[in-house]
Amino acid sequence: MAMTDSRGVPVSCDDRGLIDAVEAAHEAALSFVGSPVDDVVALLGDNPRFVMGHCFAAGMLTQAMETRVYEDMVHHLKAAEALWDQANDRERGHIQAIRAWVKGDFHAAIEAWDAVLVEYPLDLLALQLAHLSDVLLGDTINQRDRIARVFPAWDENLPGYGYVLGFYSFGLEENRDYAKAEEFGRRAVALNPRDGYAIHAVAHVMEMQGRQAGGIWWMTSREQDWAGSHFANHLWWHLSLYHLDLGQVDRVLAIHDSKLRGADPSHEKYEELDSTALLWRLKLLDVDVGDRWRRLADKWEPSAADTLYAFNDVHAMMTFAADNRRDAIAVVMNANERYLDDANDANVAMTRIVGIPFSRAIVAFCQGRYGEVVDLLLPIRYRTQYLGGSHAQRDVIAWTLVEAALRARRFKLALALANERTQLRPTSPNNWRLTARALRGMGDIASAERAEARAHSISQN
Ligand SMILES: [Fe+2]
Repeated sequence: MAMTDSRGVPVSCDDRGLIDAVEAAHEAALSFVGSPVDDVVALLGDNPRFVMGHCFAAGMLTQAMETRVYEDMVHHLKAAEALWDQANDRERGHIQAIRAWVKGDFHAAIEAWDAVLVEYPLDLLALQLAHLSDVLLGDTINQRDRIARVFPAWDENLPGYGYVLGFYSFGLEENRDYAKAEEFGRRAVALNPRDGYAIHAVAHVMEMQGRQAGGIWWMTSREQDWAGSHFANHLWWHLSLYHLDLGQVDRVLAIHDSKLRGADPSHEKYEELDSTALLWRLKLLDVDVGDRWRRLADKWEPSAADTLYAFNDVHAMMTFAADNRRDAIAVVMNANERYLDDANDANVAMTRIVGIPFSRAIVAFCQGRYGEVVDLLLPIRYRTQYLGGSHAQRDVIAWTLVEAALRARRFKLALALANERTQLRPTSPNNWRLTARALRGMGDIASAERAEARAHSISQN
């Protein structure tokens, strides 16, 4: 007899215990706790014909963007494909999505998950995987609209509703609908104070609106709810951004050293991404970070030639260039160029349009060729969404550009770029400091002093 999960979505399994176990693992994955994939893999040992178990394990592994998980992902995909005749139409949709992903056609994968959602808008796994893929691929509009398409089918009585609110909150934030994003994010956190994704979505709202003090309070007042989760490193990074904007460099370094410098080599790539993203911003501020780049570069080296995801590659490049590791720089660049010649997956566009020009700009920046940085970044800066990630993460490109313009003494351009930032986020002290430097370079001392006064006064809030 066909059974359903707790939301009424069909599962081709007649063992309630198995269905409940996968749902428990999914809950853990949505909350960034435990080891949900390992738990389900263990379950599959005794139950190798559990289709949804294989779809869950392989589906979750799609999001890792690391070559080391590919073998496991393909193993569970093949196991699910072997059970095709037993699988229901929803599960076949998941299998098709994962098959497309393994082939490198990430967009087709998302389409397959979306087709499942048209039939089953309460399929929380399909929704989560499609949403997270939208974030990975930088499909900003679908980060909002993919959730919108199913949202009316959900209500508070359905298990997992809060997570849908959290996804929607983030999608709304990335589309600059900050009021609705904050409302939905706060509602999700009210339903589940440990919903790290919703906490994160509201943190993004605060970041984009330049609400540093509010952001620090939002994060620190609920630290016990998120600091123990697997998402904590990225949330520490967000907390660091508020402090960075306020010029509190000691605080940023303290967070980096205590929270973003794990010694465990088996951790996920995200910790290195956040660490690099923070150290690069400190580099733009000309802060001496001692041997931190060297230690971080050691962690990046084993995956230097991955070329699996341009977003990772540019962060590897920042680290190697900042540590002046010429061999590793060449490895990343050669791997990227070779990959562009051979591959045809969705990452090709990301690498060609943004990854490689940004990587070249990173190297040029570290070698003091600031004019070249400007020439490389100016044409691509409004296409950077193809790199994936969030506005807050990709801001590193725009910030690198304005810093390079200042150092290249192209002060009028630097002022224009800084103006853009102050218009979007007038409460950011850092943006006013950039403005002041551009004005000072142009010889407009009175205006520079006004901008400096503004930066100083809002740093004290
Ligand atoms: Fe974020």
